[in-house]
Order: sequence, then structure tokens, then C-alpha cells
Amino acid sequence: MTPAGGDRSAIPDGVRELFPPGLEGRLRELRRSLHRHPELSWQEEETQRRLAEALEDVSVSEVRTVAKTGLVARIPGRNPGDAPVAIRGDTDALPIHEQTGLPFSSENSGVMHACGHDVHASWAVAAAALLAREPAEADVLVVLQPAEEKAEGARAVLESGALDGVRAIFGGHVDSDLPVGRVVAKEGPIAASADFFTIRLRGAGSHAAKPHESRDPIPALASLVSTLYSLTPRRLHPGQPGVVSATVLRAGEADNVVPDEGVVRGTVRATEPEARSLLVEEVARVAESVAETHRLEADVQIRSGVPPAVNTRREAAWARRAVTGLLGEDAVAALDRPNMAGEDFAFYLEEMPGAFLRIGARAPDGGSDPDAGTHSPRFVASEESLFVGGAVLARTARLAAGSGPGS
Ligand code: NI
Repeated sequence: MTPAGGDRSAIPDGVRELFPPGLEGRLRELRRSLHRHPELSWQEEETQRRLAEALEDVSVSEVRTVAKTGLVARIPGRNPGDAPVAIRGDTDALPIHEQTGLPFSSENSGVMHACGHDVHASWAVAAAALLAREPAEADVLVVLQPAEEKAEGARAVLESGALDGVRAIFGGHVDSDLPVGRVVAKEGPIAASADFFTIRLRGAGSHAAKPHESRDPIPALASLVSTLYSLTPRRLHPGQPGVVSATVLRAGEADNVVPDEGVVRGTVRATEPEARSLLVEEVARVAESVAETHRLEADVQIRSGVPPAVNTRREAAWARRAVTGLLGEDAVAALDRPNMAGEDFAFYLEEMPGAFLRIGARAPDGGSDPDAGTHSPRFVASEESLFVGGAVLARTARLAAGSGPGS
């Protein structure tokens, strides 16, 4: 079958039977309609409307707005007094011009679901459908969260109070390195922190032929970048993941002028809170000290992004149990290398126990470009991962709520 038609046989055994053809078709349609109409962070209005309709379509009636363009649905459990469990799917897209050639490619020029959030939102609806059909022990809150790409949505949901009293939260991300049917559900770090620095070095310009009359920021910038790049190999334990990347370097306009000032911008990533604070403090310290060596003034600004996402032990174990129960013992995949991208689910994990999964979504034929990962204009997530994600999240929530097979 063509990818446009969907391939029921490509949905792994153990998951397929949970989705009767009618529900399967509706979920595929939802995913494609989200993919076709992507919206940027905080602009997910049509997305919000589509998702509210989709929830109603699968008999989830208690739905309200959260965090401006998000939704939270409550699926009643058997014991309404018990503390609820939450499932989160993110909904925003990226400012990328789609080049996948998919029949349901973006119709919003310059905006694309290049991070799989169309699939994540559909997982959440799929899980809601399963939980509405067969209630868990406790209520389950399904959060459709906006603005993940700006790392603002999770905080807005938390600030709204919608998740007060929640005992555990679960979510996931499509993983194009893993085939459909394999899932990473590990305890400990699952995504890195992401902080951003802007360092301005101020000196005094001069004629380029009279550098002795300047306080030149250019050699300082060169030295600053190489010193920043010595931080991870020299300050972190060799087994401790960390990244310092300079991504903007700017100074000067002319061939014959020493400029007054220069700027370095970049990002710091770490999977452990201690490594994160050490690297961020070191970036600031090194900037000051290089500036002093070169008789310059440093202005250092650090913008804190997401913290590391760290899965809790019990919740990760529930997720693994859900994965093996649905897909077999071999379905649990190891995360061979730490993922150094940030994920705003980390904010929930600072507040409550939970687990964030990586759910296999490699396109069956690799899509048009087998090497295209997330944030690429050619990124394609396998639609069949939709059913795995929905089933795994529903089963995990059910286990966390104290019911379901095996509990
Ligand atoms: Ni993402």
C-alpha cells in the first residue's frame, strides 16, 4: 500500500487489535490533517480546534482550554477520588519549508511539522480513545500542549494549575533512528538541558595599520571560542555528556578597521544538573577572564532554557512493562548515546514523577531522505508509530493508575 493509504499490516501485532479499522482511520486522518495545517508556537488555534473535535469524536467530553492554545481532557477513571495520571502530547510546528513530497504536505507555507508533534498530538488522542473505552483505575488527564519548540508550553500548563495533584506524567518523542515497534523507556536522563549564552567583548577600535592603538576584540574572540571548547573535555568527567557550541561569531565590518567589539553566542547542553551548572558557570568565568587578559570588558548574558529531562525509576519501569506487554520483550530499546537535544517535558519532571519515551518511527522506506532527522525539511515519521505511541502511553497510564494487565 502507498504511505498515503496507510498500511494496517505495518502496525505491530499486539497493538493492531486495539484499534478497530474505524478508529484507526480516524486517527490517521487526524494526523494527516494536523500535518497539513501546522502552526507555530502559540499560534496553534486551528490545531486546538481540530484536536477538540477529535477528542469529542472518540467520546471524550470533558475537555477544556489550557495555556491559551492547549487543551486538557479528563478521562474519568473507576475511582474518581484517586490522584490522576497525566499524558502529554505537544502540538506546535517549526518555521521550515516542507520538502517531503508527502501527499498531505504542509499547506501553510514555511511552516512544517518537522519534529513529529503531529504524531505526538495524535498519540495523545489515541491514548484518550483507548482510556475512554476501557477506563483506568484513576482519572487520566490528557494534555495537548502548545509551544514546546519555544520551551514555554510546559511551564504555562504547570502555571495554570491544570496538573495540580497529578501523581505521574508520561509523554514521548518520535525517534527516526528506531523502527516502529521499538521504544526507549529508560530511567535517568533522557534529554539534555539547553541554555543559551551571548558574550559581548568590548574594547576600542583603531586603524588596522595601528593595532597597538586598539583594544582588539578579534584575538580575544578566537581565544574565547577555543577556551570554551576546552570546557567539556577538561572540566567534565569523560563519561559525563556535555556540549558547548558557539553558533554565532560576529565582529567588524571592514578590511582596514579594528572593531570596537565582538559577540559570541551559543548553547550549553548537559544531561546532569551538576554538569549543567558547572558548564554555565564556566562559560561566564572564562568570558570574564579572557576579556581581562585582552584588556576588554565582557558582558555575559545567559538565558536559561530547559533543564535536563530525568525519568524517575518507578515510572520508567511502568513504561517498560507497558512496552513489553504490548510488543514483546525485544521491543525495549537501549539509548546507546545520550540525546543532547532539549525537551520541555523536563519542566514536568522537575515537578512530578514521570517518564518520557522515545518511540520508534523510522519511515518504512526511509521517506524521500533516509538520513533526514527531526528539524529537517525532509523529515518523515512513520504513521504506524501513531498506534504504538497511543497504545504504550495508554497502557503506561493505566499501570500508573494502579490497574491494567500485570498490575
Ligand atoms: Ni520535538
